[in-house]
Amino acid sequence: MNRKLKMGMVGGGIKAFIGAVHRHAALMDNHIELVCGCFSSNPSISKESGKLYHLPDNRIYETYQEMFEKEAQLPEGEKMDFVSIVTPNSVHFGPAIMALDNGFHVVIDKPITFTLEEALKLKDKIEETGLILALTHTYSGYPAVKHARQMVANGELGKIRKVYVEYPQGWLASDVENQGNIQAAWRTDPNRSGKAGCMGDIGTHAHHLAEYITGLKVTEICAELSIFVPNRKLDDDGAALLRFDNGATGVLMASQVAAGEENALKIRVYGEKGGLEWLQHDPNSLIVKWTDKPLQVLRVGTSMNSSVALHNSRTPGGHPEGYIEAFANIYRNFALTLMSKMDGKEPSPEMLDFPGVEDGVRGMQFIETMVKAGYDDTTKWVKFPDLQ
Ligand SMILES: NC(=O)c1ccc[n+]([C@@H]2O[C@H](COP(=O)([O-])OP(=O)(O)OC[C@H]3O[C@@H](n4cnc5c(N)ncnc54)[C@H](O)[C@@H]3O)[C@@H](O)[C@H]2O)c1
Repeated sequence: MNRKLKMGMVGGGIKAFIGAVHRHAALMDNHIELVCGCFSSNPSISKESGKLYHLPDNRIYETYQEMFEKEAQLPEGEKMDFVSIVTPNSVHFGPAIMALDNGFHVVIDKPITFTLEEALKLKDKIEETGLILALTHTYSGYPAVKHARQMVANGELGKIRKVYVEYPQGWLASDVENQGNIQAAWRTDPNRSGKAGCMGDIGTHAHHLAEYITGLKVTEICAELSIFVPNRKLDDDGAALLRFDNGATGVLMASQVAAGEENALKIRVYGEKGGLEWLQHDPNSLIVKWTDKPLQVLRVGTSMNSSVALHNSRTPGGHPEGYIEAFANIYRNFALTLMSKMDGKEPSPEMLDFPGVEDGVRGMQFIETMVKAGYDDTTKWVKFPDLQ
């Protein structure tokens, strides 16, 4: 490849949250350039946004349908190679399937779709077309998380027995959706968010992180979902007991009403020989605990020397890398995989290490099961004995 990959974007207009993060991340490693977009459901905001991003007028589109139709007609090397979809969940499947039908690869944010059925259709389409889909489960992009996954895969902790994953946030502790917060407005609306609120938004990250690090699959859950803020229609808090396919068990909790918390994602995994702990607020450290040795704090850039940690970090130890770099790792691995395939070469295992459509289907299975179990009070709650 003697050129950069060309990226289009759906969503990510001037007032949007994650679109800007995607653009920073995609451009970080100099493999990708933004060439076109439909940045809003409002055509004038799409135009205004595209101009701000220095795109030529004829590559700023009013609808994503127009974008895919017109881009598909441009010559190879001029048209976009892939699209990033960074819209509310209800606008994931439409652009994703149309992109694939027009021969474009896809990067899409989580949850992959609005329903499980849509996710399965996307999986079929990926298999049929051979195109590549990357799903931005951000936390799997951190070097320390990748190192933890490799330690587990190498058997360093022994057979995994226990997983605790918690994801408390506090930004939805009051009804900010009625006070002009546009991100809160669609996340609390079943018509735009999907069956779940908090569990779809951040529970899916916690679930993905647990499966990504352990290499295990959740097979059953026992759950409770709550809606704390009056008149809200979707869960803003919840927890689950997990059973994994190797016999391990776990606990997952996610909340967006944990008042005062920022983004305190934390995971602990224990095997027969030891355990590990990672906290998103201190992402360059991985704490490893042993039954027969002192506790270790492994650090990205110094004591964390696995091929995956080295491949996914950019600066020497002590120069913090964080959220945008984790996103950039997903983009870089996706880009390296895509460029290898375009060159007729086999991508390395490090390049292929990014979440895809299978992870998206798992996420939708998680949402379905959490909602089914989360409001069912009949099967799981046992009262204390009544002593009279
Ligand atoms: N991976 C992560 O860490 C992470 C973090 C935040 C959000 N997300 C996901 O990213 C997605 C977007 O979330 P957000 O917080 O940025 O939302 P947002 O409301 O800030 O932005 C959504 C954007 O999509 C645009 N849009 C809506 N319909 C459109 C259409 N038909 N055509 C073109 N553009 C359209 C809106 O105008 C807006 O610009 C969601 O799926 C969310 O779950 C992921």
